[in-house]
Amino acid sequence: MNHPLADVTRRLGGIAYGGDYNPEQWPREVWREDVRLMREAGVNLVTVGVFSWSRIQPRPSTYDWSLHDEVLDLLHAHGIAVDLATPTAAPPPWFTRRHPDARPVTASGTRLVHGSRQVFCPSSPAYAEAADALVTELATRYGDHPALALWHVHNEWGNHNALCYCDTSAEAFRAWLQERYKTPDALNDAWGTDFWSQRYGDWAEIDPPRDTTAFRNPGQELDYRRFSSDALLTRHITETALLRRISPDVPITTNVMGTLEKKVDGYAFAAQSDLVAVDHYLPAADPDGHIDLALNADLARGMAGGRPWVLMEHSTSAVNWQPVNVAKKPGETRRNSLTHLARGADGLMFFQWRQSRAGAEKWHSAMLPHGGTDGRIWKEVSALGAELASLKEVTGTRVHGDVAVLFDWHNWWALELQARPSSAFSYLDAVRDWYEALWTMNITCDLVPPGADLTPYRAVVAPNLYLLSDDDADNLTQYVHRGGRLAVGCFSGLVDDCDRVRPGGHPGALRDVLGLVVDEFLPLRTGEHARLADGTAVEQWTERVEPRGCTTVSRYADTADGGPARGGPAVTRHGFGDGTAWYAAGRLPVPALRELLRTVCRQAGITPVVEAPPGLEAVRRVGDRHSYLFLVNHTEETVTVSVAGAGLAGTEVTDGRAVVPPGGVAVVREDPSSPLY
Ligand code: GLA
Repeated sequence: MNHPLADVTRRLGGIAYGGDYNPEQWPREVWREDVRLMREAGVNLVTVGVFSWSRIQPRPSTYDWSLHDEVLDLLHAHGIAVDLATPTAAPPPWFTRRHPDARPVTASGTRLVHGSRQVFCPSSPAYAEAADALVTELATRYGDHPALALWHVHNEWGNHNALCYCDTSAEAFRAWLQERYKTPDALNDAWGTDFWSQRYGDWAEIDPPRDTTAFRNPGQELDYRRFSSDALLTRHITETALLRRISPDVPITTNVMGTLEKKVDGYAFAAQSDLVAVDHYLPAADPDGHIDLALNADLARGMAGGRPWVLMEHSTSAVNWQPVNVAKKPGETRRNSLTHLARGADGLMFFQWRQSRAGAEKWHSAMLPHGGTDGRIWKEVSALGAELASLKEVTGTRVHGDVAVLFDWHNWWALELQARPSSAFSYLDAVRDWYEALWTMNITCDLVPPGADLTPYRAVVAPNLYLLSDDDADNLTQYVHRGGRLAVGCFSGLVDDCDRVRPGGHPGALRDVLGLVVDEFLPLRTGEHARLADGTAVEQWTERVEPRGCTTVSRYADTADGGPARGGPAVTRHGFGDGTAWYAAGRLPVPALRELLRTVCRQAGITPVVEAPPGLEAVRRVGDRHSYLFLVNHTEETVTVSVAGAGLAGTEVTDGRAVVPPGGVAVVREDPSSPLY
């Protein structure tokens, strides 16, 4: 059987290209211009009606389908397929007025008012009833509409309302806890409630971790995160089941936020969708935002089990929600889009088709800007549409990661709870540093959870595993024992899945596999650094490590410069079973991580996608007949790379060298008989 995304791209005739289409913001005269310009830009798929609930259901018992009827027919008549959204992310004002208790409540007890989106409590029965009725009506009306290619459930689950602390949520939390722990005693044990006299004798005594006098119970906080993610996941599963029952032949997706969002477990939502879709926006403050882009693309592919996925939203230029919304440079959108394509996207969509005149996002870029078709953005958008059409043979091909980088929402939640040795220790920063070290070497990796099947990977990198469940610890131990290579970042292997410290010396879950004991955590003050013997400066975090069988690969300097861990191991290596495990006992800077990973990769027989100068990003998609090499030039110089194959998308290949202009992207269809293939 085909993967559902393959059916979608076959129907579209290639790579999905388009964006969120919100015709309700415009008079109908504009709709005709929209479809004409969509055709001109090569758009073949649009996401319709994400925030259209108040139009579709203007009163509690009145449905008005006139807009959807006309727009879907119009799009179909112009050959544009529809990714139809269940508009449940923005309940209308009448709903909130009727059900004031369905509004979410903050940890400090403030009940939020209507006036934005996702103004609902994830556990509200009134919301569930209204949303389910709406989804049922929508699916019944359009489930077999010829324009319909894909269902888009909700929008970015949990973006604004994941954590609700109202009484309804409290009730639902108690039920969730009873299901998980069965008895209050088991819960007391899991949460360590004998600390600060928090022992519960009755489920009714348990509240969400609302604002309180001092630090909250970490087990309670962690479970509240899990519960909150599950509450929204239940909504997702319910909507999905309704759509599937009424419209069984149309695949279903939802736009997951990747590392943009900590509040819900992205893997869980991806697993409950027929195909994986994600949103990505460049962090404007990061001069190397393209590395964040690559990381998120590799996470999307990890969520998709290595199969192609859809980039449901990115921007043609500036967003409107960062402190300074930097415009993209000429050529940057193409570079961004083609990098997502290189890393396995079979769909490249934007927020949004036409830039709004009014409302909170009118200063957010779009495919069709306020100024219309005259400016740079439109020219780039339509050129990109044509280019993607010329690259349609790439659809369905796959990227194979040599390395697994472990990424886990539960660990993210736990690591950043209150009262840790250093509040400066950020999960995403740790992940980014290790990822960047691989990125700069053009080593392809998949971001996967620690419980994933690791057998396809020649090496595994765990930037941080503060929390590691028994099963996941076993997975890693077995992986190394059977001959795998594992590199682990500091402050890892310490607590179980209830945030309880593992006994017997740190890092309890990884002591044996790493062959060491961490005697003491030695975080550094802001601005302080400790030097390794080779002069490398380590910031934020050091540890005192005692070898128990491991070899010391590098050390902290045995002088005052060495900081609190002076003279001790900074990087260790340990043979375990048939494999090897490395440990970084500090927040090593990217160049030091690269040195460590270079050794790991050499031992694992992993080579870069191509040999290229710094700033040239290379990724390969592999198909049954051909492979496709993507070369993305982030420098201001022309770069040439040895290739064997034909240039696509305007790529010049001369004497076996692909020419990649400054800021440009080259695509090469590789010759399968070539040794480079
Ligand atoms: C998110 C949402 C969109 C829009 C964009 C703006 O991704 O899904 O509706 O708000 O952000 O960047």
